[in-house]
Amino acid sequence: MHLTPEEEQIGKDNFNEAVSFSRRDFLKTSASAGAGMGALYFGYKELEGEPVRVGFIGTGDEGSVLITQHPEKYMDIVAIADLRPTNLKKAIIGHNNEARVGLINKLGKDKASKIKQFPDHKSLIKAKDELGLEAVVIAVPLSQHAPVAMECLKAGLHILSEKLMAHNITECKELVLEARKQKRLYAVGHQRHYSVLYDNANHLVESGLLGDIRFIRAQWHRNNSFPGRDSWLKKIPAEDTEALKDKVTEYGYDDMDHLVNWRLYNSTGGGLMAELGSHQMDACSIFLGKKHPIAVQGYGGRNFYGVKGVGSKDKQDDKREIDDQVFVTLEFPGQHYDAKDNPRDICVVTYSSINTNRWEPYGETVFGSRGTLIMKTEKEAMLFKEASPSTGGGGPEQRLHVINASDGSGVALDAYETTAPSAQASTAVIEKLSRGYTEEMEHFCHCVRTENFKKPEDGGLRCNGEVAMADAIMALTANLAMKHQKRILFKPEWFDVDNDAVPETDPDVIGK
Ligand SMILES: NC(=O)c1ccc[n+]([C@@H]2O[C@H](COP(=O)([O-])OP(=O)(O)OC[C@H]3O[C@@H](n4cnc5c(N)ncnc54)[C@H](O)[C@@H]3O)[C@@H](O)[C@H]2O)c1
Repeated sequence: MHLTPEEEQIGKDNFNEAVSFSRRDFLKTSASAGAGMGALYFGYKELEGEPVRVGFIGTGDEGSVLITQHPEKYMDIVAIADLRPTNLKKAIIGHNNEARVGLINKLGKDKASKIKQFPDHKSLIKAKDELGLEAVVIAVPLSQHAPVAMECLKAGLHILSEKLMAHNITECKELVLEARKQKRLYAVGHQRHYSVLYDNANHLVESGLLGDIRFIRAQWHRNNSFPGRDSWLKKIPAEDTEALKDKVTEYGYDDMDHLVNWRLYNSTGGGLMAELGSHQMDACSIFLGKKHPIAVQGYGGRNFYGVKGVGSKDKQDDKREIDDQVFVTLEFPGQHYDAKDNPRDICVVTYSSINTNRWEPYGETVFGSRGTLIMKTEKEAMLFKEASPSTGGGGPEQRLHVINASDGSGVALDAYETTAPSAQASTAVIEKLSRGYTEEMEHFCHCVRTENFKKPEDGGLRCNGEVAMADAIMALTANLAMKHQKRILFKPEWFDVDNDAVPETDPDVIGK
């Protein structure tokens, strides 16, 4: 659905209004406390003592985003490593865009020049003692998350790895167990766990303001159909080929194409569900109380690339292995779900990701019986009210405010007959927020420095290995459901790290 700019503004004001109402005491305390926003929201403190000494492994697109967002008071980048000389250089000088400014712009020339550079993760690990390294941030292609992280764990380093946690669930379990054995922290970069915007949205959902939630729709639609243009198909720089020509296979890549265009191949990537869907399934499961899903089914296909007569010649000749569109349906348990006594208390989540149209921006829409919450591109949240016999009109033109429900059941949305936002809505503190990268790195460093191995609910890492493994199970089991064309029931033992059972070898999933 497309909203006019005026309707969007009303939706944002409504969201701010609702947050200001339901978190009034919290926001007042936050405003007077004077610490960073992330620390206040997520319950950690400013770091006492020296910043954690960190090495970055993988300084491509995402590594450079994390470098740009890294919190200097918490994290001291002492080394970087990348196989590709061009990306090592870009980590220093930047990519010529705001999201990836490079170490010189971020830290100044002097400090940046002291950061040691390595041609691979192995040489960085070898130098760990002279570097005084405590932790690594890993942003390499998916298939290498587990092998690289395992080597780092065995060298005694704490890990913050990019998502998806690993290429399969067996690897996820091995990583959690190794981190336990080595007494090291393992964090995974599903940044929505550290997004203040999502935290506020989740708070509204938890307060019951949206009523009963039976349906969430998530999508990430892109248009890569124009000739010669494709965000996942990149040119291979000659300088990188020259540097790696005899040794790229040593690092787990069949050739340079698999290193540079790793997202397109099954041996190196995990397709649209791993790259895009995992974030959004993560968001939906947060909205639904972090419960594990019950079942998944879906359709995935290569219906655009490599199809005779469809698209331009370069698209018809494209040899990628991954599906170019996926449509997945997940069933989540509602608050009162019971497999025997109340099996129909289900909330359905649908997810789609396509390559041939971007009419809708990426995001998630939560359809409640009293209101609709729209999360747009991780940056905006909008709230609209359903029309109701007792509290009046609804829809995209309706301003609203929050009241204590007349039946004493908590909070409710009420209609608001004015053209201007309320004072609370226009002064809400939730604008201009980061997507969570900075906060995720701050909290990781804080946990390292304070040796905090607690569970997320007790103030530990919000996306630790176990939490991230659940996200990987959702994304990778969705892939299996599409591959084997069946509705798959999730098994509790898959989510248990101390149990060997995993979906990728389960006979109920892959057949006998
Ligand atoms: N959290 C998010 O929103 C988000 C967004 C984009 C990407 N990611 C994740 O970040 C990771 C990296 O993605 P990207 O877009 O930066 O890919 P990329 O291809 O741009 O960068 C990966 C880099 O890792 C390097 N590399 C590979 N193996 C290495 C090794 N053994 N030692 C050192 N360097 C090595 C490559 O040379 C390359 O420069 C992926 O797991 C991806 O899913 C997360």
